[in-house]
Amino acid sequence: MFVWQQWHDEHLQRIEKTLLLSTPSGFKSVSRLEEAMAYAVGAGGKRIRPLLVYSTYYLGGNFPDNQQNILAVDQAGAALELIHTYSLVHDDLPSMDNDDLRRGKPTTHKAYDEATALLVGDAMQAQAFGLLSSLEISSDISLELIRELAFSAGAHGMCGGQAIDLASVGKWLKQEDLVLMHRLKTGALLRSAIRFGAILGGLSAPNRSILDQIAQDIGLGFQVTDDILDATQDSSTLGKTAGKDEEDHKPTFVTLMGLEKSKLYAQELLERSLLALNYWGSEADPLREITRWAFTRNF
Ligand code: IPE
Ligand code: IPE
Ligand code: MG
Ligand code: MG
Ligand code: MG
Repeated sequence: MFVWQQWHDEHLQRIEKTLLLSTPSGFKSVSRLEEAMAYAVGAGGKRIRPLLVYSTYYLGGNFPDNQQNILAVDQAGAALELIHTYSLVHDDLPSMDNDDLRRGKPTTHKAYDEATALLVGDAMQAQAFGLLSSLEISSDISLELIRELAFSAGAHGMCGGQAIDLASVGKWLKQEDLVLMHRLKTGALLRSAIRFGAILGGLSAPNRSILDQIAQDIGLGFQVTDDILDATQDSSTLGKTAGKDEEDHKPTFVTLMGLEKSKLYAQELLERSLLALNYWGSEADPLREITRWAFTRNF
């Protein structure tokens, strides 16, 4: 029988171990830059992107007992987490959201300095692609992962969304523009997580196209939920500054449609995702649980 908590804890352990091993110094302070990288990535976080990679990989009837393949899944998930962590380090910089708290600790530029935080992000991005290029799988698959991540992290993905976010401060966005911003700044990397699992798991084209629809809804819903949490939780629960969107005059789903309608909107996206996941049987249980968690989490 599938037990979510057990599945979650076992996979979280794999992720933490892989991130530790993929850090050049193994989290030991070789240089101030590497120490700061270890600080940022070692601070925890939900690790939802690597968890999505595993859960989608298992849809293809793959099991963790294929040691070589699961190592590639570990490392591909770690690469995504590195890109995500770099995006947070930069997101918190004074020139972006100017945040002091992240994952329950002082942000990287507060614990170190701004220039170091910039370099942490730059170096993590390079590290992520280095990791993907050295997976022990066919070079065709590696290249597909590299292409996917290069697209979703770039100007037509996360960075593009962040640029829209910054250009939208103090402005009122119509719903379709807000949806686009959320799909890019947050949805793109989450969709890559699901695509990574599908590529590594060798899923068929029809399976992948259903998953792409689901990934779109999870990606958008994840950021709608982030907007809701920013307005409803306290900083100690979030591990980051609560109420920051309102303080910074950011357009969010909460400012666009109010709290209650935002919650209903997120609920609709969750239900649509779960309905689409009915295409699979119990092999989709981990993905179902992560999907629920993405929408019902409190941090
Ligand atoms: C926060 O991401 C920023 C967004 C993209 C919404 P997460 O909520 O995944 O943050 P961590 O990794 O758990 O800290
Ligand atoms: C950030 O969105 C999305 C990223 C690409 C990092 P937010 O600015 O809302 O993320 P938090 O709330 O600071 O985690
Ligand atoms: Mg931001
Ligand atoms: Mg922010
Ligand atoms: Mg936010």
